[in-house]
Amino acid sequence: MRGNKLIFGSILIFALLNAAICPAQSKPLRALAEKRGVYIGTAVAMKPLKNEPVYRKTIEREFNIIVAENAFKWSSVRPAKDKFYFKDTDRLVKFAETNKMKLRGHTLVWHRQIPKWLIEGNFTRDETIKILKEHIKTIVRRYKGKILAWDVVNEAIDDQTGKFRIDSFWYQKLGSDYIKLAFEWAREADPTAKLYYNDYSVEGLNAKSEGVYNLLQELKKQKVPIDGIGWQMHVENGFRIEPQHRINAGRLTDLNLELSITEMDVRLKLPAASEDLQKQAAAYRDVADFCLAQTACKALLIWGFTDKYSWIPKEFKNTGGALIFNEFYKTKPAYAALQESFVKAGQTGDNR
Ligand code: G3I
Repeated sequence: MRGNKLIFGSILIFALLNAAICPAQSKPLRALAEKRGVYIGTAVAMKPLKNEPVYRKTIEREFNIIVAENAFKWSSVRPAKDKFYFKDTDRLVKFAETNKMKLRGHTLVWHRQIPKWLIEGNFTRDETIKILKEHIKTIVRRYKGKILAWDVVNEAIDDQTGKFRIDSFWYQKLGSDYIKLAFEWAREADPTAKLYYNDYSVEGLNAKSEGVYNLLQELKKQKVPIDGIGWQMHVENGFRIEPQHRINAGRLTDLNLELSITEMDVRLKLPAASEDLQKQAAAYRDVADFCLAQTACKALLIWGFTDKYSWIPKEFKNTGGALIFNEFYKTKPAYAALQESFVKAGQTGDNR
């Protein structure tokens, strides 16, 4: 009896000491997210993954889902009509498996990063359909059972009009039919993967999100196999979750779709002051709170994690600092905001 008490006492002291030394907030995002049953992830660039141990270690510690920033795109994976390049994609799949991470597949049909041989190939409609089918079947089959969700179609809707994007190789060659076909081929190739439509500037209520909603509603009506909507969430500093985002999420999930935040970043005007970093943290916190509060939201992925590697400064002049670690892999206020959000969700008995 005395022995039992002693053991119990020691365990209690150990647990208290542990909690004091290692408060929940100091835990990596991955550990906190796993407790809440949600995925926290990042896009991964192949070069630093191969060459920079701190880049790799940070991913292993902080994330339980990853997505290739470029490696699965046509320009990377299909250098010629009859040639696939799977070295990088295989490497990434293995990295995810070794580290018990999930993987998102990005992306099977997109109007950007299409190889020259395809654009300039003068293929007929039938030939183009054959090439696309072969592409989707080959890749999705190769990684069958290993990809949690595919971004089957990316960015098919025009920003201004909410109609089909016409500056697209796929639309010009095949009309809007390619969307339905792509989802059907992906489902045939891997019935277990979740199939997503993914886009930017569709989080709130606007012409584009209206167009996306109409498209998804129509696909559902036609029994096209689609499971989810990806909100990329490339936003400017100052972004906050508003009623319009909840309304939009509500109508999408009413279509029986799951939702993932797939490419979040919050870009700052440079040079940034400390208030800007606090504002940025508020945006990340809002999105994490929003995602954790609804069971339809399965994952929150950031488009890279260190400001050392981000697409933002290349595309937006005098802008950057959009991620949760700085260029020296030090955490920023946005990182702590995500930790706090995950901890808070646990304490308030979140409904997940
Ligand atoms: O691979 C070539 C390399 O051989 C060459 O030397 C170099 C010279 O510029 O270019 C390299 O290709 C670049 C590629 O990234 C790989 O680094 C392309 O120029 C560059 O345009 C490409 O940018 C990517 C962009 O998509 C292309 O549209 C970004 O890294 C990537 O972050 C970005 O990701 C997209 C998502 O897929 C979809 N949503 C929007 C998001 C941001 O644009």
